[in-house]
Formats: sequence, structure tokens, C-alpha cells
Amino acid sequence: MDLFRKKTDLLPHEESGSTGRLKRTMGPFDLTMLGVGCIIGTGIFVITGKAAAENAGPGLMLSFVIAGIACVLAALCYAELSSTVPAAGSAYAYSYIVFGEVLAWVLGWDLILEYGVAAASVSSGWSAYFQGLLAGFDIHLPLALTAAFDSTKGTVIDLPAVCIIMLITLLLSLGAKETVRFNFIMVCVKVGVVLLFIGIGIFYVKPANWTPFLPYGFSGVLSAAAIVFFAYLGFDAISTAAEEVRNPQRNMPIGIIASLAICTILYIAVSVVLTGMVPYTQLGVSDPVAFALRFIHQDFVAGLISLGAIAGMTTVLLVLLYGQTRLIFSMSRDGLLPVFLSKVNTKTQTPIRSTWLVGSIIALASGLFPLHALTNLTSIGTLFAFAVVSVGVIVLRKTRPDLKRGFTVPWVPLLPLLSALVCIGLMIQLHISTWIGFIVWLLLGLLIYFFYGYHKSLLNRKS
Ligand code: ALA
Repeated sequence: MDLFRKKTDLLPHEESGSTGRLKRTMGPFDLTMLGVGCIIGTGIFVITGKAAAENAGPGLMLSFVIAGIACVLAALCYAELSSTVPAAGSAYAYSYIVFGEVLAWVLGWDLILEYGVAAASVSSGWSAYFQGLLAGFDIHLPLALTAAFDSTKGTVIDLPAVCIIMLITLLLSLGAKETVRFNFIMVCVKVGVVLLFIGIGIFYVKPANWTPFLPYGFSGVLSAAAIVFFAYLGFDAISTAAEEVRNPQRNMPIGIIASLAICTILYIAVSVVLTGMVPYTQLGVSDPVAFALRFIHQDFVAGLISLGAIAGMTTVLLVLLYGQTRLIFSMSRDGLLPVFLSKVNTKTQTPIRSTWLVGSIIALASGLFPLHALTNLTSIGTLFAFAVVSVGVIVLRKTRPDLKRGFTVPWVPLLPLLSALVCIGLMIQLHISTWIGFIVWLLLGLLIYFFYGYHKSLLNRKS
């Protein structure tokens, strides 16, 4: 049994049917917008408040810096691998070439968890903001349709969450060009409201709010870093797009690094302003950014922020679902998941079956179950993927020095090693229950691999 058999072809050969390759339509700007689209969302609009109130205090800005450093290091590693192996599937595809099949499967399975749970939590945040907006117009949904199943509260299904995921699935099935256009408009709206917040909020900052700076000590800053890490998640998702990008060797690194750089600067600025405007003890609310504006009696701007948050979360969902479909497409093309999922529609040039499968499962799951409680599973899964990708850079330099690299990480092996260590350090900050959930998911994945993937793998048929 060869669990570590590796792929040697970087890309599948053009095949006669419509299975196999996607159309290259995106440039560096589209990619950067896709990255910003997936990064700015629930993390900054929802999670920051509680992280400040309960973990870091005004030191939240340091938490953003630490999580940002972890992401920048990982982003450099992603940039190198995505410019070397420009195939759909991100960390999964790299691992197939670097480490062999079983680890590739583990990573693919891990990313399915990451994108799936993230999409479920973002859709429930979306639904909450959307219902808040409707309530502003005095429109209220029947209680049963407002949240995931909970017999004590009388809720059955989160209808807005189901609807937004199905709408996004429809958009994704129309084609990458349409997706990119829609994403661009929504990204402009959300970056606009973030800038508006910073621009107005800065005049209401009271430096006294920054003392005490570390009410929970440095350990609080570290645990908040692991929590707000979720806010950065998304730049990795764009590396799933590698097969739809023109000149990926050049454009993937630009897209990954530029989107992360933009968001890091915005996040640090937001956390400085937010904790300066409102005493941290009052920030433990679910809409901290809008709350801060209400705090200074800017109710109209607060309303705009809510709209921006909805736009923001819509694009996060869009890119997460996009990443998920490309990942499943790639895994099915390799035979590790049923092959019919990698059929590309001849008209739209998208993997339409994997798109509808992913969309329907996530819509139902997030409508019926309170998956948003599992947000930390997303963080642990992503950190794991980052650590593997970082080590992958070092290994691939040794095993395949022949490959053309569009971008190279400086100071190898020091920098990728540091990246892996920082990721592991942040994983350790997460709660034991998160670790147990993660390990159970991976074991389940391994079972599926041994009973299905190993036998059906394309490499198995070749050998
Ligand atoms: N980074 C994304 C968000 O904050 C997942 O919603």
C-alpha cells in the first residue's frame, strides 16, 4: 500500500470531454479583490468586540498584529507554492506533489471543514445582520424561520441563511466572470464603510480608553490573536483559483500578498480606533463597529455600517463557497471523491455539479444546525493547513528544485519554519474541545480515504 504516492504532473492534461480544466479569466486585480472579498467580514464586524471585551482589552491591536504576522508569513509560503503549482485546490494540490496522497487527502478534507464551517458561521452572522435590517423597517420573520433548530426557543430553520447560500450558489454556477464582477461591487461597498468608520471614528478617540492597555495581560492578547485569526482567513481561499488565473506564476503572489496587506492595515487601524472610541468593557456586543458609532450618536452612519457588513459577509460567503467547489472539483478529478463532481459545464466553464452539491449541503446544514458555534474549528483547520504549506515550501525546494517558481520566499528555511511555528503556537491557544472536534474530523476523513479514495484514486489506476 503506497500511501505516499505523489503526483508528478502539475496540471491535468487537457482531456477530450468536459472534465478536467477550467477557463483562465482572472487577472491580478480580480484576484486581489477576491482576496479582500473573502477576508473582511464576520471577523472584523462581529468577533472583534468580544475579543476586546473578554480577552485582550485595548491590546486587541497587538492581537491583530500577531495574527497578521502569522498570516503574512503563511501568505509568502502560499505565494511560492501557488506560483509553482498553479492547479485548482490550493494546499491540497500542493501537498499531493510535495508530500504524497494521504497527506494531500488529509489537507483536502481539512479544507472542506474549514470552508464549510466558515461558510456556515458567516451565513448565520449574515442572517442576524439582515434580520436586524428588516426589523428597522418593522418586518419580522416568523420565529420558526429565524434561526437554526432549537426546540427550547421554537426555532426550526434559519431561512435567510439558506436563501443567501442558495443565491450565491446560483451566482457561482453562472461563471467566474459574473462572480468576479459581483464581488468587485460588494468589495467596494465594504471597504468604503470600513474607511468611513476609521475616518469618522478617529475624531472621537479618547486616549484614556487605551489604559489599562493590557487588562488581561499578554496571555489575553495571545488568546485574542487566535480568535481574531478568523478575521484574516480567506487569502488562502484565493489560491484555489490558480487554474482560472492568467499567468498564475506572476499573478497569484500579487493577489495573495496585496489582499492580505490591504486587510492587515485596515484591521489594525479599525482596532486602534474602536478601542479608542469605546471603553473596552462595553465592546462585548455582536455588532461592535456599528455599536461604536451609535456610542458617539452617529446613528445614520451606524446604519450604513450594517449595510456594509451585510455586503462584506456576502462576498466572504461567495469566495468561501467558490473555494470549496474548486477544492472538491480538484479532489474528484484526482479520483479521491466521486469523479462526476469534476465535470465542467461547457457553457459556463464552471464545475457546476460540485457547485450545486456544495451549495445545497452547506445551505441545509447552516439552516438547520447551529454550526456557527464551531467557528474555532475553522481556525484550527486553517492553521494546520498553513503549517503544512510552510513546511511544504522547504520540502519542495529540496525535492523539486527544477520547478519554475514565479515567486520565492526569502530566507528559506528560516522563514517558512518560523511560519509553521507561529501557526502551531496559535493552534495551542485554542480550546481542548476544538482540538477534539478537529481530530475526530481528521479520523473520519482517514476512514473514508482507506475505504474509498485509496482504491478509486487516479494514481491507483495508473499504477
Ligand atoms: N475572514 C473572514 C471573515 O472574517 C472569514 O468573515
